[in-house]
Amino acid sequence: MFNEATINRFQQLETPFYYYDLGILSKTLEACRAASSKYGFHVHYAMKANFNPKVLDMIQSFGFGADCVSGNEVKAALEHGFGKENIVFAGVGKSDKEINFALDADIFCFNAESVQELYIINDLAKAKNKKANIAIRINPNVDAHTHHFITTGLDENKFGINTWQLAEVIDALRNCNNLQFLGIHFHIGSQITDMEVYKNLCTRINEIQDWFNDHGFEVKVLNTGGGLGVDYHNPDNNSICDFESYFKVFKDFLNVKPGQEVHFELGRALVAQSAALISRVLYVKNGQKKNFLVLDAGMTELIRPMLYQAYHQIENLTRKSEVGSQKSEVGDQVVTSDLGLKALDLKYDVVGPICESTDCFRKDVELPQSYRGDLIAIRTAGAYGEVMASGYNLRDRVGSVYSE
Ligand code: LLP
Repeated sequence: MFNEATINRFQQLETPFYYYDLGILSKTLEACRAASSKYGFHVHYAMKANFNPKVLDMIQSFGFGADCVSGNEVKAALEHGFGKENIVFAGVGKSDKEINFALDADIFCFNAESVQELYIINDLAKAKNKKANIAIRINPNVDAHTHHFITTGLDENKFGINTWQLAEVIDALRNCNNLQFLGIHFHIGSQITDMEVYKNLCTRINEIQDWFNDHGFEVKVLNTGGGLGVDYHNPDNNSICDFESYFKVFKDFLNVKPGQEVHFELGRALVAQSAALISRVLYVKNGQKKNFLVLDAGMTELIRPMLYQAYHQIENLTRKSEVGSQKSEVGDQVVTSDLGLKALDLKYDVVGPICESTDCFRKDVELPQSYRGDLIAIRTAGAYGEVMASGYNLRDRVGSVYSE
């Protein structure tokens, strides 16, 4: 991801920033497109993972649809050229304003997450003399075996409609003349790496689809959601997900009827490996028990480690590229080191500048001896990175830089 020219370029730039390798992004998108189109599967990109404008433009250019979870995401999808017939709108708490906006935009489908929401969409559609396409988001009670903060398909989660409420759904669909039932939707969690989980999901989808058929409802769309995980530990060796194996599970285990469409909503798998958060070491604190590297990026730029105890690989780019003597500059201070070919590895707690103890990217990270001004890369940050940045502590908004 980083050659010498790229690192030299970073030396001239103000940190922190997200660096997007558009080459990795396009290879990933191509791999996903090839593997999904083999079976005629449709992929809607889960925009929540990253709505950086250049990222969206590239994803749109590969022909993916958009999976949105707010009115503003629907708006951004339209602005970036995603066709309205390729936009789905999910979310457990869609406001009337957002529903009206999506109705006016004639999007492809609402993924409805409660019986009450069905009646509200129906009323709002009726007022506009329209029919809204609906997929029912069902909570299949399948364990995603991932971090509990990003598990969504269990009975205890707030998402979707539980199977024991499906009779009420049928009543609602029969009573609501301004709804057009299209299909069923599932999303059981994120960062799923065990394909057995998806096999279990297929089994549940098959059962639920049969239930709808038995009640006289034809299911035109099977939407299996997203969640495919990426390799946070080996971003260089494994920069592109095994989309082939992922889609093959659905090909082999999902009971797809003639004429039926199968939809996916991948977010992380499409964008995670294409970006790194680049920051500089502000201070090195050597304690008796601990060494700290204090970076100019923190939880305000990348909150995943603090929120989900997520692992991200951390690299010292200045020392990595080092052969012989290397200079790095911060402001008017110039640090010169002559480490030779082998730098001594030390353990550092890599922390941010925010006034919170939890503002730590990782403890005991083995790194070459590091100095003020060194460039640090935090890898696999393209998904749920820039989009989850905040202005806490009145911090500047994190920048973005793209490969040339
Ligand atoms: N569809 C629905 C309905 C979703 O809720 C999500 C993600 C996706 C698709 C896309 O999932 P993906 O393919 O990206 O796993 N901030 C957390 C992840 C939250 C995921 C929210 N929903 C993280 O940084 O790990």
